[in-house]
Amino acid sequence: MTELLRVNGLVTQFNTESGVVKACDGVSYYINEQEIVGLVGESGCGKSVSQLSVMQLISAPGKIAGGEVIFDGQNLLDYQANGPQMRSVRGAKIAMIFQEPMTSLNPVLTIGQQLTEMLVIHMKMSADAARKRAIELMGLVGIPAADSRIDDYPHHFSGGMRQRVMIAMGLSCNPKILIADEPTTALDVTTQAQLLEMMRDMVERFRTSLVIVTHNLGVVARYAQRIYIMYAGRIVESGMTKDIFAKPRHPYTIGLLKCIPRLDEEEGTKLVPIEGLPPNLINMPATCAFLPRCSYKIEKCYKEPWPELTPVNGDHFIRCYANTEVKPSESKKR
Ligand SMILES: Nc1ncnc2c1ncn2[C@@H]1O[C@H](COP(=O)(O)OP(=O)(O)OP(=O)(O)O)[C@@H](O)[C@H]1O
Ligand SMILES: [Mg+2]
Repeated sequence: MTELLRVNGLVTQFNTESGVVKACDGVSYYINEQEIVGLVGESGCGKSVSQLSVMQLISAPGKIAGGEVIFDGQNLLDYQANGPQMRSVRGAKIAMIFQEPMTSLNPVLTIGQQLTEMLVIHMKMSADAARKRAIELMGLVGIPAADSRIDDYPHHFSGGMRQRVMIAMGLSCNPKILIADEPTTALDVTTQAQLLEMMRDMVERFRTSLVIVTHNLGVVARYAQRIYIMYAGRIVESGMTKDIFAKPRHPYTIGLLKCIPRLDEEEGTKLVPIEGLPPNLINMPATCAFLPRCSYKIEKCYKEPWPELTPVNGDHFIRCYANTEVKPSESKKR
């Protein structure tokens, strides 16, 4: 498999009045060609910021303070955020569907005007050709009567249909990577499922890699080949979806899996939420940020800094000292 994107040690911070928020603190991951990857974690752990950093869409008081984003042999962070090189990547080679579709669609422009803009700018299409392609794209993502609805405004569309428009827009320039940030969170369960199925079909058709950003492990279980689990600005576990579901190794992932219903578990198994809250990302301790919530912690966790990602098996990595293969009480004896 050919690697498309590699992020190395990404550090993104926000200088706020209360202190420096380390939203991404050494985030590293990769995406292969035509792969679907899931980025999962609780609210506020840095998922969106990591993806916005790849697109260089971090504005003041935020700052990308370190790391590399290697795409096509180039470090995108060497490019000026608003310079021509980054503009030719953003939207055209790496596209993003943002977390709030209503704020990313311009309410005073028709869907057609917004869809054709990218095609004219990046694909150098004539207005007529762009309109034809936009109608085609709307049809592909399942918008009925696209040839008349293209002249409607965003408020004429339902939430699900707006999200379909966003997917059509994301794919319009045939990007190498599509980043979908919580693409279906605001929608009902049936619409969510339909959209995710459609998105999977679309990326296969367009040969695009897809990053699904979500707090819902159920979503990635179904669609992603590989998963990155994020906690407090860092990746804490990564691996093939099947391996992580069969044998999660980081206490946080184990906790997340206990919160979702699973078909492969005995009937009557209780769903258990992870106790406590994610930490404040200002003044983070050097030790593991999950320590206060962890039921597997051992003495070493209090003494040593948060470990680096270490392989547990092939392509399966965790950032943890404890032995999670045994019950929490036994792990303390180590
Ligand atoms: N403009 C900003 N100014 C200050 N802090 C910010 C800003 N944007 C993000 N942050 C902080 O960065 C951290 C990570 O935010 P991010 O939006 O990446 O979380 P997330 O994992 O995407 O959460 P969610 O699931 O709620 O979307 C949070 O603590 C957030 O408060
Ligand atoms: Mg987010």
